[in-house]
This record gives sequence, C-alpha cells and structure tokens, in this order.
Amino acid sequence: MKDFPFIKDEEIQELAKKEAKRQADGLEMIPSENHTSQAVLDVLGSRLTDKYSEGYPGGRYYGGCEFVDEVERIAIARAKELFGVDHANVQAYSGSPANQAVYFALLEPGDTVLGLHLFYGGHMTHGLKVNFSGTLYNSVQYQTDKSGFIDYEEVAKMAREHKPKLIVGGYTAYPRIVDWQKLREIADEVGSFLLADISHISALVVSGDHPSPVGIADVVMSTTHKGLRGPRGALLLANGNPSTPLKKVEKTKENIPTLLDRAIIPGLQGGPHNHQTAGIAVMLKQALQPEFKEYGHQVAKNAKVLSEELLARGFELVTGGTDTHLMVVDMNSKGLSGREAESALSTAGITVNKNTIPFDPRSPFDPSGIRLGTPALTTRGMAEEEMKQIAAWIDEAVQHADDEKHLKNLHKEITKFTKDFPLPN
Ligand SMILES: Cc1ncc(COP(=O)(O)O)c(C=O)c1O
Repeated sequence: MKDFPFIKDEEIQELAKKEAKRQADGLEMIPSENHTSQAVLDVLGSRLTDKYSEGYPGGRYYGGCEFVDEVERIAIARAKELFGVDHANVQAYSGSPANQAVYFALLEPGDTVLGLHLFYGGHMTHGLKVNFSGTLYNSVQYQTDKSGFIDYEEVAKMAREHKPKLIVGGYTAYPRIVDWQKLREIADEVGSFLLADISHISALVVSGDHPSPVGIADVVMSTTHKGLRGPRGALLLANGNPSTPLKKVEKTKENIPTLLDRAIIPGLQGGPHNHQTAGIAVMLKQALQPEFKEYGHQVAKNAKVLSEELLARGFELVTGGTDTHLMVVDMNSKGLSGREAESALSTAGITVNKNTIPFDPRSPFDPSGIRLGTPALTTRGMAEEEMKQIAAWIDEAVQHADDEKHLKNLHKEITKFTKDFPLPN
C-alpha cells in the first residue's frame, strides 16, 4: 500500500528551498532573526519530533521516554551553566508562551502588570491591550522619554501609583543597556515581581556585552532563536529549586521554580517539542564554547560601526545610537516612511522591519522608523568593513526608493557579495 508517509510534497520543499535562497542571496537585518547551524537543523528534522513526553525528565505521563529524558536533562544542565542560574525550564514552545507562563505562575487574573508599551520598544506580551497580557491582567504601560531612553523615574512613579504585582523589563526594540538594578529597586519598593525578558539581548548577556539580570530579576526569560541562534523556543530561568514532586504552592518568591514548572505543565502546555528541546541543547553546547563570546562581541561591534556609518550619512537613530545589536532608524530623516523604507530595502535584498519611533505621529501599520540588527550578518562572518559597505547600500537604496530598476541592480550586487559569506551548514 502506498500510504501517505511515502508521498513527498515538492511544492512545499520548493518553497523551503526558495526561502533558503532568499536568505542566502540577501542580508537579513531583522534583529530578532538569525541563521541556525546545520547541527541544530539536523536534530530539528529528527525522529525526536514523533515522541510524546508530557511531564518532566523522570516523571512523565508516557512510556518510552528514556532518550528524550536525557535530551531534556542535557538541555537544562547547559542552560543553567550558560546563564549561571539554579533552575531552567526549556519546554516553552516560544517566547510568547514563556511570558504567558510567567504571568500564569506569578499572578491572578486582574492583577496589575507594568511594562513598556509596544510602540516604545516593548513586546506585545508586556501588556499590550489586545494581547492576553493586557486582556486578562490590568496592564499599565510606561513610555520612554522623547529621545527613546527608559525613564526610570517615570517607571518608579507609575509603580508607586499603580502598585503592580509584576514589572516587565527587557525589550524588543530598545537599543540601550537596561539597568536591571534600578528596575529591581523599583520592584522592591512596591513589592512587585520583576521579569527580565532578555529575548533580544541574551547572546550579549552570554558574551558580557550586556549586564546579566540573573540574580537580580525574579524570572529571566529568553527566546532561543534570536541572538542565541537556536531553534524557535524559550528558556525560563530562576534561582532556587522546584519541589519534588511538583506540588501546588503559594505564589511567593521562594516557590518561583515550582510555579514556573507547574505553569508550563499542567498550566499551559501538553507534550514538549522534543526535537526543539534537542535543538536548544545543541545551540546551548555551541553557546558554551569560548568562540560564542567572540560572536557576541562582534555583534555589538558591528552594530556600533553600522550605527556610526548611518549617522555619518544623515540617518537619525532613536536614542542617537546603540549599545546593543539593534538600532531604530527614524526615516523622517530621509523623507520616507518606515513602510516605504522596508519595501525599498527589501527590493534591494536587505530585509528589515518597519517600526514605530517614540511618540510616533504615524500609524503602526506605516510608522516612521525601521529596526536594524547585526546578529544574522555576524553569523555569516561579516565584520566592521562589511558594515561600512552595508551602510552605504542602505543609503543608496533609500535614495533610490522609487527606482525599482536601480534597487534590483543593487540586489544583484548584494547577492554577489553574499557569496563570500555563506549561511552556516
Ligand atoms: C522581547 C521579546 N519577548 C518575547 C517575544 C516573543 O517571542 P515569540 O515570537 O517566540 O513568541 C519577542 C519576539 O520578538 C521579543 O522580542
């Protein structure tokens, strides 16, 4: 019988190939994107994906878990080592479910959460009104100052006024160093939990280019697919150890590891994605190598050079520059909207995303800015010299935004350039 497992889907395979070629032939500059290694891709496409294993290693609701138990134990041990933390949960399906787990673990519906508004650099899960975090919880949102910097005085003022049970720090489009200690002091003053969402900056935390919130925040969350270059997924990190067995406990600081594990399962998820856990384990092995620190340093150096080159070419950057892997460019400085710039750059083979700038007068569907980052370029081996060239190309594309022929020729030139910087495999 020619059953369905033997049927191939050339249509989808072709699309996957086209996507790989699109990535290889262009410059991925969306700061939340990266290129995983072949070693990660190999386990993602393995038989581990077939296996159900609800529960945690050694305490599953399914038989046949001896190998996936080992995979998960290794991933947990490596996550703890990499971030220097007592407890790690590696099962969250992605960053948003991981943040959901933190809320579910620490709060009751209706409790107050204080987070940075999406339009100022926060993430949807930090309390946006249309997200679960702004619907099930009483979300209060802070803004940056006019230049785009976090105004810690303003955060403190709002915390005193609204007495949140959770303060969210860590951002999606914020180019500057976060002062974890200041957020801790504010949280302590009002008796709030502090979540550090380091999804964007975790590679820089590993390399020491951004201070670590471990030991300062109550919970640290990071996606695994941005700077860390793993598969899609997330890490939930906290100090302390979960109770065994995982019994129902009060929502106190001492119980955070237990609360997080119980929030993932039985709270929110069923079977962990074992192929993904394996990919996370592989990524963590790579991130534990000394070379990964070099990678993080280079990501930050590249962003610095790129930002300086853009400033020299008359681009305006939110906060005037960057300390991290990303920058937000105010396209008003070049007479384009964010959507127009995104589109022109895309035609030229440079992938970026449109983004609001602080106090943006335009709509989020066609905002004033674009967001640029260096993690994926750095994975391909590009360094300072290449950043100078890329800044020149960005300028050229923006100047010829209405000239499709020019942009397509530029794409050809960029594709030629990328041949010296293949995707990892
Ligand atoms: C700071 C931050 N937190 C959480 C997330 C959510 O991650 P995911 O897209 O994997 O759900 C993102 C994604 O961009 C993010 O930037």
